Amino acid sequence: MVEHILNLKNTALNDINLAQTLSELEEIRVKYLSKKGEVSLLMGKLRDLSPEERPAFGQQVNVLKESLEVALYQKKQVLEDQALLLSMASEKIDVTLPGYQFYQGSLHPLNQVIEDLEDLFVGMGYEVAEGPELENDHYNFEMMNLDKDHPARAMQDSFYTDETMLLRTHTSPVQARTMLAKKGEPLRIICPGKVYRRDDDDPTHSHQFTQIEGLVVDRNITFANLKDALLKMVRHLFGPERMIRLRPSYFPFTEPSVEVDVTYIKKDGSIGYIEILGAGRVHPNVLRMGGYDPEIYQGFAFGVGVERIAILKYKIDDIRHFYTNDLRFLRQFKGVNK
Ligand code: DAH
Repeated sequence: MVEHILNLKNTALNDINLAQTLSELEEIRVKYLSKKGEVSLLMGKLRDLSPEERPAFGQQVNVLKESLEVALYQKKQVLEDQALLLSMASEKIDVTLPGYQFYQGSLHPLNQVIEDLEDLFVGMGYEVAEGPELENDHYNFEMMNLDKDHPARAMQDSFYTDETMLLRTHTSPVQARTMLAKKGEPLRIICPGKVYRRDDDDPTHSHQFTQIEGLVVDRNITFANLKDALLKMVRHLFGPERMIRLRPSYFPFTEPSVEVDVTYIKKDGSIGYIEILGAGRVHPNVLRMGGYDPEIYQGFAFGVGVERIAILKYKIDDIRHFYTNDLRFLRQFKGVNK
């Protein structure tokens, strides 16, 4: 038996020694050390031995196994080194070729506007809230004080998947969802997200666009608080010299409601106004449906189009640039907010 082990060892070491390539070496490993290899077969012979002979035999086979493993490992290193040297000698590198230019990605301009506004409002104690894009009629309209045959629905509703579900037409349903989730606690949120409406294919409209909704509900909230939040937002976005103008308007979910214009300098040097968002004091019905007593709690809300902000801020002439992912367009916005 001992002799048999010795023979096996010698042949195996000899095989390993003679191996020329890594794949030959692997074949040798399989031949000797795999589950059905020679060393396992030898172990199998334990059964034929008497109990006294077994420990010594088992130990010798283990020693054999270890020495083969060591030899295989060492030979593998040698062959790998050889292979590397060989490939370095045969492959040529032309060090005179110019380097490859590579581009670092950057945030989409719309996401830059969203992140910028999130930073601003989170700094003022707001939380960022989100809601589903496929929304229930109940949240999208009814809880926003637009019941089933409210005429204002006609301006918006477009993409229904069945009787009750539609692609949300604005981020306002997140107001309703958050109010219910807060169960009567005061809240301050902003909610960025995609919204959907049928629209003409023209340079200023898209069937899918992005909004940021703001909502504050607390005691003693007045229109002056809304004005403060809006002015801070506008100046943060467009510069400290900007002014805002609040024009009376109508939204079913706010009362009173305003449209908000921001000043800009016209070509002739005079001051003009451009509309950027809708806002108002939260309608008592909306508060009530959201679980707040309008006698105790008041709120303000606003909804702003992110594309519109980006168009004004970066002077973009066609809303469709945002969605075509043309790198020549996108690369211009790298780091513009920093
Ligand atoms: N939801 C309105 C829209 O999509 C925008 C809006 C106006 C949101 C006034 C508001 C608001 O929260 O108070 O046109």
